[in-house]
Amino acid sequence: MIRKLAFFGFLLRRAYATGPGLTLETMNQNMRNMEYAVRGKVVITADSITSSLKSSPTSYPFSKIIYTNIGNPHSVGQKPLTWPRQVLALVDLPDEAGVDNPNVSKLFPSDAVERAKVLKEYMGGCGSGAYSHSQGIRGIREEVAEFIEERDGGIKCNPDDLFLTNGASTGIGHILTACISSPTSGVMIPIPQYPIYSASLALLGGKQVGYYLDEGKEWSASMEELERSLEEAKGRGVDVKAFVLINPGNPTGQVLSKDAIADVVKFCSKHSLILLADEVYQENVYDPKKTFISCKKAASDAGMLGQLELVSFHSTSKGIFGECGRRGGYMELTGFDPDVQAQIYKLASSGLCSGIPGQVMTSLMVKGPSPGSVSYESYEKEKATIFDSLKRRAIMVVEGLNKIEGFSCQPAEGSMYCFPKVEMPKKAIEAARKEGTNVDTLYALSLLEATGICVVPAAGFGQEPGRAGFRTTFLPQEEEMKQAVELFKVHHEQFLEKYK
Ligand SMILES: Cc1ncc(COP(=O)(O)O)c(C=O)c1O
Repeated sequence: MIRKLAFFGFLLRRAYATGPGLTLETMNQNMRNMEYAVRGKVVITADSITSSLKSSPTSYPFSKIIYTNIGNPHSVGQKPLTWPRQVLALVDLPDEAGVDNPNVSKLFPSDAVERAKVLKEYMGGCGSGAYSHSQGIRGIREEVAEFIEERDGGIKCNPDDLFLTNGASTGIGHILTACISSPTSGVMIPIPQYPIYSASLALLGGKQVGYYLDEGKEWSASMEELERSLEEAKGRGVDVKAFVLINPGNPTGQVLSKDAIADVVKFCSKHSLILLADEVYQENVYDPKKTFISCKKAASDAGMLGQLELVSFHSTSKGIFGECGRRGGYMELTGFDPDVQAQIYKLASSGLCSGIPGQVMTSLMVKGPSPGSVSYESYEKEKATIFDSLKRRAIMVVEGLNKIEGFSCQPAEGSMYCFPKVEMPKKAIEAARKEGTNVDTLYALSLLEATGICVVPAAGFGQEPGRAGFRTTFLPQEEEMKQAVELFKVHHEQFLEKYK
């Protein structure tokens, strides 16, 4: 009865009131203006083509969409690593159906059972269905701290400074939320950048302060450019609070040297900028001449660790795990005012805790099966297979793209992307302008409709004025990626013909 009355009330309001309470005009305008290219117009069109292909399989000259728009490895065929999934399953199963079942050894290796027991102990008997501490399960944070210490050659890491997060994204959101205190607050972000930064700043009502990466110098950033960008922002009244460094780069794929990182550390320290070190691709380094150096290590070696506020993000979504859907990751805070850190903890607490499967994946990412245990060799072999294939694809795609006339693509030293520059015909630029879009989007939509390949227009990441192109992942499996490279070429020729 009450429900009937409520529904009647709702109908009356719809009939007599002026309209819905929330309209495009009355809603949060920051949210409305926020853009997120990797799931933007081209992807929406790709999704609708996927639906059309289901009902009418011959409506396009291809049978399926090849999604290269997003770094989501499992969605394009990467297999999950077996051992982490075994442990995760055992952690989730009730004891009697899993770790304590008399037949468990028939289905699961002993090191998966042992590890699941340890994780269950960390959960203090609550199991994986309970909220954890808002910074994440203590035992897992201790494992992450050990991993960081080992990675950085023994520099201390305090588990109390670690927050387990739903992917890196939530951590990034928390820190940016803490930084944007007024509409004049700004954050320096690389151009091109991964659009979570521009999107979050738009949502929070902060200012984006772009610094250009130099494509001609393997996407490095010069100190002159950083100083120029900061000065320019100050000149327009922006109170610059923080600096984002993405290493290895997305969409640009560069792996920075220790000296280059140390320069950024010095710059941030000199100007009291919080350094947000986005290090989610730390395992994805393919160039044998390059190694990943964390900002923390570079700062420590430069004797500057205590002299700046640094936050580093990592994730289970990338690397070799590619477990994007688990939403696992962590952030480490270094040098923060304890009162500010307490506020960040309060913010994390408002979300109660990050997802437990993500926390478990984070644990397994930082600590695999021990050498000599039953699963060790097969686990390492599976990891090497994925890594070696990514490395081959990184080389193959860059080489293939560079063979197309009018394309130029920097080496993908790391991460999962190629970001070619494409010379666009003048007529295409004019056509895009007439359609009220940019030539990158026109190109990406044309590529999608001709070949089924879904890329992201370069404009979505930001770029030098006059530059055009797109970002593609090299995540589809090797044969499919080879075909994609062929199709990039075929489409480009058709596009040139159309707009000659
Ligand atoms: C540079 C960078 N940072 C952060 C993220 C966020 O990923 P997640 O929230 O899945 O960890 C991504 C995802 O693609 C990324 O490329």
